[in-house]
Formats: sequence, structure tokens, C-alpha cells
Amino acid sequence: RTAASGATVPSVAPTLSEMVARKLSMDSDEDKDSFMHLEEKEMIDWNKVERPTPEMVVPYDSLVQAPRDIPEIRNLLNKLAVLKLNGGLGTTMECVAPKCTIEVRSGLTFLDLAIMQTEFLNKKYGCSVPILLMNSFNTSLVNKIVEKYTNIEIHTFNQNKYPHIITEKFLPLSSEGSTGSHCWYPPGHGDVFFSLCKSGILDTMLSQGKEYVFIASSENLGATVDIEIESLTSTEILNHLIHNKNEYCMEVTPKTSADVKGGSLICYEGRVKLLEIFQVPDENVDEFQSIENFNMLNTNNLRVNLKAIKRLVKAEALKMEIIPNLKEVDGVKVLQLEKEAGSAIQCFEKAIGVTVPRSRFLAVKNTSDLFLILSDLYIVMDGTVTRNPARDNSTNPLIDLGSEFRKVDSFLDRFKSIPSIVALDSLKISGDVWFGSRITLKGEVTIAAQLGLKLDILDGSVFDNKHSTHSSGA
Ligand code: UTP
Repeated sequence: RTAASGATVPSVAPTLSEMVARKLSMDSDEDKDSFMHLEEKEMIDWNKVERPTPEMVVPYDSLVQAPRDIPEIRNLLNKLAVLKLNGGLGTTMECVAPKCTIEVRSGLTFLDLAIMQTEFLNKKYGCSVPILLMNSFNTSLVNKIVEKYTNIEIHTFNQNKYPHIITEKFLPLSSEGSTGSHCWYPPGHGDVFFSLCKSGILDTMLSQGKEYVFIASSENLGATVDIEIESLTSTEILNHLIHNKNEYCMEVTPKTSADVKGGSLICYEGRVKLLEIFQVPDENVDEFQSIENFNMLNTNNLRVNLKAIKRLVKAEALKMEIIPNLKEVDGVKVLQLEKEAGSAIQCFEKAIGVTVPRSRFLAVKNTSDLFLILSDLYIVMDGTVTRNPARDNSTNPLIDLGSEFRKVDSFLDRFKSIPSIVALDSLKISGDVWFGSRITLKGEVTIAAQLGLKLDILDGSVFDNKHSTHSSGA
């Protein structure tokens, strides 16, 4: 079996979780229970994979226009809670602090901006949309940070924690004498449904008359409650879901060649389903990666009916495939078994996808994504990020920062300030490069430091279609 990284991982037998859990003294019975209920990965029968029907994936523009007057918008918004996923640690960028605590503009972090978006919405419409924040044992320091927000109702809760399993031995890392937090991991954002119920916050929301929860990654600043139309926040999606009794909605956006590996919606045995690359038989991977056939990328912006979550969790009917993820902890190869919230789509009644513009998916998976968001390519206002109109090109520049910039801390250290890139088409950096302040990059730029030498780019430099290899100040 192949993980997303391409590495072969052991088959996840249904007894594996039982075997490991028995050898563990897990923190709480709930953690143990949840771990024991991990499901076997479902094998996909490729012959049954079909394009989703037009009823399953609806273009945003075809949704019936929602009310445009303020009291009606307020009524609709009062049925909503906003949930930010914040349990992951951003291991791809080797974050040591939660991703959402990275500063985006003028001392404001992803988290500040995400909260400001909802604060602004509440103020504009006189509504009371609360924020629910899911943390993990890795990110729970955020619970303290949000105490400073007193103008908005914020509920925090922690997700489950599961044991890292040594791949070669199928034993928990802690059974080998290791101690500390690296023996554990948060088991993916699919955990959100169970942890939300367990925390009691789902019931609190129902008692407040909330009907839907809008779930999105805390660092995706494109995940506003809905698109702005004529400077009003439209409620088209929520309105559609309430009227059509759709229990679950995933925002999808057309794939580009940069996201061929991302999950895509399909029709499988008559139901809408999220297909991930790890589920695809080896011989069909090329077909899966062709953006002609599988072109609906999961943005992880999900609206889910609260009563339906409760019903499915209670009935133990929320089935999600396990994603086997190989990681290395202190030089030991370990296995993480995760679930993703998008794959729950198959469990809900009348679940749909809605096609939205790419601007609603500003994922920050690696430092190249971060570079774009921190740059002048985007303008931030009231917590909302919009594309800088000064850029002519509708696509983003291609960014390859090289391995020196991979860790978020080294990335941030290497820029006195993020260069201006509104007129940049592509950037390729290699080697030990350090940027001064007020630097402008235009067109196609390549900067390479010679092996073993440090290259300092001087304050105020302009690179216009320049390919340069240097060993000292530019
Ligand atoms: P990512 O897919 O970017 O994962 O998560 P990640 O864990 O942050 O990063 P890597 O894979 O380790 O590099 C998308 C969102 O889901 C949250 C993350 O905090 C992020 O906001 N998430 C992820 C959780 O809430 N819990 C998890 O167990 C995993």
C-alpha cells in the first residue's frame, strides 16, 4: 500500500488499532475508544468511479440568489457557527508553534485575521456568529491567546490524540521507553465531528438555534463566511443548504497543474465521495492526476448540519477512510493513522459540492504558499484577503524557494521584509540566499548562491527578468 509520499506502508489491518491500544495507557477512555474505532481503508473499485452528477456538484453562480436585505441576511447568519481547524502543527514546514500564530500583516496573525473576519461580520449585520476553535495537545496554547477577544463568543476544544506507531514493529513509540509529546499526534481534521460532540459544544450550538457549522482551516484566509456580492456578504450557500436540506456541502475549486495530487469529488455507487490519491490503484494514478477527469479540488471549506453530525456520531455511522501517513520522529519511522473531514461527505444525506473561485482556497501547506500570502500579491482588509488589483496576471507566480527556506523559521529569518512580487512570473532560489528589505522581483527571476557561499541581496534591489549566480552581495 502506498502513502501520499509514495512510500510503501504496511497494510492497516482492523486489528492494528486494537493491538496498539491494548499496549497503551491512553490519557482518557474517550481517546482510547476513538482510536479503537479506526476503520479499515476501503479499496476503490476503479470501474465504479464516475464523474459527479450536476446535482452533486453545483456551480456557485447557479445557486438561487439569497436575500439581500440586512435583517434577512442577519437571520440566516444567526443559524451559523464558524469552526476553525487548528489542531495540526504544520509539520511540512517544521513549525514549532501553531501555523495560525504566524504574523501575516502589521503584527496580525492568521488567527487574529480569522477572528476579525467574523467580528466584522457580526458588527456589520448585528448577528452573533460564534467561533469554535479546534486545537490539539500541540496547539492548545492558542486557547490562552484567544482570551483577549472579548467582543465575540469563542469556544475552544481539543481534539483526540493518538499514539505514533513504529512502522517496523507495529508497536507504540512510547512502549520503547520514549516519553513526551512526540509519541502522540492529532489524528487529522476528520476528528472534528467526534471531538465537537464530545466537547459538548455541538449541543450548546443547537441550544442557541444554530443549524450549520462552517468548518475551514484556520490559516485559509480565503474561507470567509461567503463571497461578497455588491459589498454584502452573500448567504447563497447557506440559503441553498437550508432550503434543499443538504446536510453537508464541500466547496470545491477547479484543479490546476500544481494540485494534481489533491483530493477530488467523484460519484461512487450513486453517492458523492471524496477520492484521495492514496485510495487510487497504482495503475490509475496517472488518470487521477489528469486535471481533465478529476478536476474538483477539495478546499476543506465545509458546511455541515449540526443535527446530522450528532445523529451520525451517536449511531457510529460516520465512516471515514484512514489515511496512512509515514513520518520520522527522532530518527524512528512511525505511522500516523489520520482521517480527513472531507471524506465524511459520503455519510451525509443530500451531500453536495459547490464550485467556488480559487480565491476561497488560500492554503498554507509550505513556505512557498506562505511567501505568496505574506507578499503584496494580496491585500488584507477587515481580516479578509483579496488579490492586489495591481497584478495583471490572473495566475500566481510559480515559487521555488529551495531547501534552505523549507522550515518556517529559516524562511522568516531569510527575509528582512517580503519582496514586492506583483509583477513576478516565477522565482527560483537555490542555496544560502538572504534578502534585505524593499526588494522587487519582476518577470522570471532565478537567484543561485554558489555552493558553500552566502548570498546577501541588498536592500532596495530590483530583479527584472534576471538570472544570477553570486557568491557575495548582489
Ligand atoms: P494541513 O493539511 O495543512 O495539515 O491541515 P497540518 O497538520 O497543518 O500540516 P502538515 O500536514 O503537518 O504539514 C489543514 C488544517 O487542518 C488542521 C490544521 O491545523 C490546518 O488548519 N488540522 C490538521 C487539525 O485541526 N487537526 C489535525 O489533526 C490535522
